[in-house]
Amino acid sequence: MGTITVDLNAITANYQQIQSITGSDCTVSAVVKANAYGCGIAPVAAALQNAGADKFLIATLPEGLELRSIIGENPTIYMLGGFDPENSDLYTAEKITPILNSIGEIENYAAFASKSDQALPAIIHIDTGMNRLGLEKQDLVKASEKLDGIDVQYVMSHLACADEKHHAMNEAQYETFKAAAETFPNLPKSLANSSGIFRSPNYHFDMVRPGMSLYGLNPTPETKNPMQPAVTLEIEILQIREARGGETCGYGATHRFEKNCKLATVSMGYADGFIRALSNKGALYWKDYKCPVRGIVSMDLTIVDLSAVPENELPAPGDMLKVIGPNQSAGDLAVACGTIGYEILTSLGRRYNRVYKN
Ligand SMILES: Cc1ncc(COP(=O)(O)O)c(C=O)c1O
Repeated sequence: MGTITVDLNAITANYQQIQSITGSDCTVSAVVKANAYGCGIAPVAAALQNAGADKFLIATLPEGLELRSIIGENPTIYMLGGFDPENSDLYTAEKITPILNSIGEIENYAAFASKSDQALPAIIHIDTGMNRLGLEKQDLVKASEKLDGIDVQYVMSHLACADEKHHAMNEAQYETFKAAAETFPNLPKSLANSSGIFRSPNYHFDMVRPGMSLYGLNPTPETKNPMQPAVTLEIEILQIREARGGETCGYGATHRFEKNCKLATVSMGYADGFIRALSNKGALYWKDYKCPVRGIVSMDLTIVDLSAVPENELPAPGDMLKVIGPNQSAGDLAVACGTIGYEILTSLGRRYNRVYKN
């Protein structure tokens, strides 16, 4: 059994830090999709709301409905996943503001809005280089002529490379966005995710959309993390074992021990989000001793090597090893296996206890 501790004060402080960087003319819309990046949408959204957040972003309609039941009827909910005509009434009943990503979505939403006695709110998403969602350059004028009955609150785009300080895409997308937004004159604009917020005040416009930085991940990977850590994870030791030199461990017998050593088997595997790519790669910590993962990560179990721990300080079954905490961040763990902190956090499974501090 493992315990995830989410520090709601840290999340609040991170939100406030972003608000102070972007200034009072800029709205901070908190990205709480994917169960608030694995941290738990209900306590996180409530804490952000207490800190003054009144705009939230989610990806899907079910996420929007869940969030609405948590935050009450007043705060704004923007939905990245666009407008689904088959569920149109839910958007109005639950006050979900869609982010419209294509001409087709704009047409469908305008048709739906024409049946309403008031204009319906939306954000218009312009693609400036991701080639993922959003209006293409050749669609802009056409889109701008189809907005009858739609109350466009923002035009937005999304940065592809903001985590790389000097990446040429950042300025290129900024310029493309400014030019494209001229097709929708006098509308508020939004461009920056967490990293974008820290790259240039130019990118702030009227609304920023931080996700990862709220949860303590580092939006400026080239420097010290400016955010407060918000998540720790500890995992229980099920067994302490002794392997002899020459023996192997785990599926596929992928690690062979050179000499006798003590091992700890912990109650966490890839089904818990300790992803299989960490096989023979990551490490856990006992006190400040680094205990490398040995062998393949199983579905429910992982084996670590206690060789670095002095004999008189060895842990016992029931003791907790640190997975994410002061010795290693989610980002560090991600680097060890070639992924990103986002994947580590959003993969954290349902079998952990979740404890909320503050
Ligand atoms: C459109 C959009 N805006 C904002 C965010 C938040 O990004 P980040 O977590 O990097 O701050 C995301 C995340 O995927 C996104 O897709």
